[in-house]
Amino acid sequence: MKRKRIGVLTAGGDTPALNATIYGIVEEANRRDTEVLGLIRGYASLLGDKVPTVLLNPLFSTIPEIDPCVGGTILGSSRTYVDPESTELHTVRRNLERLQLDGLICIGGDGTINAMQALAEITPCVLAPKTIDNDLGLNYAGEPNDWTRPEAAADAVLQNSRGRIGLDDIVNYATPGFATAVFVVVQSIDRIRTTAESHRRVAVVEVMGRQSGYIALGAAYAQPDFILIPEVALNLDDLEYRVRHLYEIQHHVVIVVGEGVRMADGSELGATEKTYDPAGNIRYSGAGDALADLLQGRIQDGLFERIRTGEPTGSAFFTRKIGHTQRGGRPIQFDRYYGAQIGGKAMQLIADGNNNQAATLQYSGTSGFEVSSLTANRLRDPWGEIHARRVHPSLYDAERMQLSQFGREYLQPIFTDAIGWDDVEFMRAETFSPGNLTNCFQSVNVDIRKRIRLS
Ligand code: F6P
Repeated sequence: MKRKRIGVLTAGGDTPALNATIYGIVEEANRRDTEVLGLIRGYASLLGDKVPTVLLNPLFSTIPEIDPCVGGTILGSSRTYVDPESTELHTVRRNLERLQLDGLICIGGDGTINAMQALAEITPCVLAPKTIDNDLGLNYAGEPNDWTRPEAAADAVLQNSRGRIGLDDIVNYATPGFATAVFVVVQSIDRIRTTAESHRRVAVVEVMGRQSGYIALGAAYAQPDFILIPEVALNLDDLEYRVRHLYEIQHHVVIVVGEGVRMADGSELGATEKTYDPAGNIRYSGAGDALADLLQGRIQDGLFERIRTGEPTGSAFFTRKIGHTQRGGRPIQFDRYYGAQIGGKAMQLIADGNNNQAATLQYSGTSGFEVSSLTANRLRDPWGEIHARRVHPSLYDAERMQLSQFGREYLQPIFTDAIGWDDVEFMRAETFSPGNLTNCFQSVNVDIRKRIRLS
């Protein structure tokens, strides 16, 4: 009997959990005597004359380069996608046939699943979700039907039909990569806090997440004074009032702002730039700086001079963009474990003959986390579009600009045991290992290149 051969690719922005997911896929494939071919640099691999691939399990044993404890992706990633309207699809079809794949697992987010739709007409495809933004999923099963397209509005609008949701209503509770991103953010804010406190400054910390405020919400573990998420329009008067009040009391303030935060008229606070990925994603930059400028422009009545005697007013505010450190480095235990589980589930789904499905991570108050799946179409609105999941209103207290009680309930299952003893031990033993001073960094790209074949 011919052994099955499954392809796997990683697409879109990287996360620290990608190698863990690849590991889960390959380990499950080994159990099933299935070959796994890694495609290099996401969908870009399928658009050339030759496809660069790596056999990830020769003789059904996992190659050593797949280390679930290492961030990034040994397969490389790109934001390239396949345009179903163009002739590219012929090239993709030819390449997939040449590789003799029985199916393809795409590890990615909303952009990846959109591109996967076209490929699912050619070969069975399954999505293994990943994204630090935690925006691939639904707040409740029927949510895509609650998107409307009012004639006056340029974009579709979400009218959440459910004021309150339960934790077990959430479809794909958390995506691999999110927990590590929050871990990085929380550590950064802890460090920013003490300098803000010492120098009596207002720190504005910008975090990633595009239009979704999950990373900003997770920052609540660092106890910032205010959290601003893109889902709720910025109320500058209110924020100014609260900043002034708190500054008088504690002589410093820490504000966390999600990069996609919006003004009341719907305009983004920072600069935006279109990207070419299939989710129509936008690149955000500068929301933190813009917010600091706005607040500083409003607070010109000597408040800072009075409390920071001798210091220039212009230095009262400082902004820090945590940036790509959120996306990189060693994944914490939650991401390693569930990243691998999601990978294993994706492999099972494809081996069982499913197509156009996504593996998911579900949570139940009685039984905890378990992997499950859904048909990709269940994520699509009536016009066929997949939207980034937004923070549900019940997770955020807009008046206090803080996590709500339900938000606390949401975060706890993810973060209570998110860090394993080996994460701590790794830091203790490796961060200042003397070898780091003598050895050059050995890139996995160099090792993987030795295994790449062009088909
Ligand atoms: O989607 C993941 C993400 O990290 C977003 O949070 C962020 O806005 C974007 O990617 C940055 O993309 P790039 O690395 O292409 O600038």
